[in-house]
Amino acid sequence: MTEDVVVHKGLEGIYVTESSLSYIDGLAGKVYVRGYDLTELAMKSSYEEVAYLLIYGKLPNKREYYNWVEAISKNYGIEEGMKKILREIPRWNSPLDVLKYSLLTIGLWDKEQNRLDKDALYDKIVNILGKTPTILAAWYRISNDLDIIEPRDDLNYAANFLYMVRGEHVEEDAKALDTDLILHIEHGMNASAFAGLVTISTLSDIYSAVTSAINTLKGPLHGGAAGAALKQFREIGSPENAEKYVEEKLSRKERIMGFGHRVYKTYDPRAKVLKEMLMKMDLKGEAKNLFEIALRVEEICMERLCKTKRICPNVDFYAGILYVHLGFPIEYGPAIFALSRIGGWIAHILEYLESPRLIRPRHKYVGPIGLKYVPLEERE
Ligand code: ACO
Repeated sequence: MTEDVVVHKGLEGIYVTESSLSYIDGLAGKVYVRGYDLTELAMKSSYEEVAYLLIYGKLPNKREYYNWVEAISKNYGIEEGMKKILREIPRWNSPLDVLKYSLLTIGLWDKEQNRLDKDALYDKIVNILGKTPTILAAWYRISNDLDIIEPRDDLNYAANFLYMVRGEHVEEDAKALDTDLILHIEHGMNASAFAGLVTISTLSDIYSAVTSAINTLKGPLHGGAAGAALKQFREIGSPENAEKYVEEKLSRKERIMGFGHRVYKTYDPRAKVLKEMLMKMDLKGEAKNLFEIALRVEEICMERLCKTKRICPNVDFYAGILYVHLGFPIEYGPAIFALSRIGGWIAHILEYLESPRLIRPRHKYVGPIGLKYVPLEERE
């Protein structure tokens, strides 16, 4: 028996909610957050300010901004128990897995983790935003046999994270990471944002909803492309090898990582910002070589893919090179992506909570019905 219904596999083309968080114009290569051009925000604003804009729907005034930043930085510290847990986690786990596990664990320290009213949610939001960079940095230190570095509340979100990882503050690097975090903070409805909504639609709790989003980002089809692009540049080895590599890949009908996007049919504006930023930075060693390779791959693929097929560079083409410059191993790409996107996921969750409705889709049943049960002892 089959029901006469249309199945929308992958929910492609299905609008699941209304949102005023962001708008992507894939043909013009523009993305707007609460009406503001994301690339302008990336160059002029800070991660905290854009998170505020997303969550509260407007840019903060000075007092609101400083209160917000202070509330987040007051939550930078993590409990000794959390550090103990981090030290016990087997080292083979990925930073993203550690982050998602730790986020649920932060919730266990929150006596009121199930409250979803506005006052309680404010505390939870600054708790999540404050603690997640500390956890990721602590994991970096522990997994490299280094002492954990305590946070500095005089540094902003990006600068403090980098300081806790490296033990020094370099303004240019902190600003570059801040720009990257802003560029990744929000990108419309997608698999991870939707997973967060599914969880909160049951009126679960915000720690669980953000963790659902991280779990969903984990897959290589969503959060892993920056690492894949980096791996590709490493395989190429030098700019001179780029042409042969690209031609061989395309003749085997394989994909160039960091090119193409479901929504953008032109140059991803976020990739443009990262490229221009890397151009101005004093890159050295491997990062410099990788960037030169990327520029050559881009030059070739602009002709072969972008101009002809509208398959153009996406944000992941250059992001991994920045992470190498900042000193992160390849597996930190998805975790840094998650760190940034937490601000966007929270905004989606709060927006959905304004008029929640249980997300309860259906499946079209295509199996048999009316089979006769045969007791185990009578079965062949
Ligand atoms: N390199 C070469 N050819 C490509 C590429 C690419 N990067 N991307 C798409 N194509 C080709 C396909 O082979 C296909 O060719 P065909 O029609 O001859 O079979 C055609 O373009 C259409 O491919 P689709 O997969 O249907 O296009 P879609 O728009 O759905 O793809 C996607 C988007 C999945 C991102 C794809 O471009 C891709 O795999 N890119 C490489 C991985 C990557 O960079 N992912 C990051 C995306 S951005 C993000 O997640 C933050």
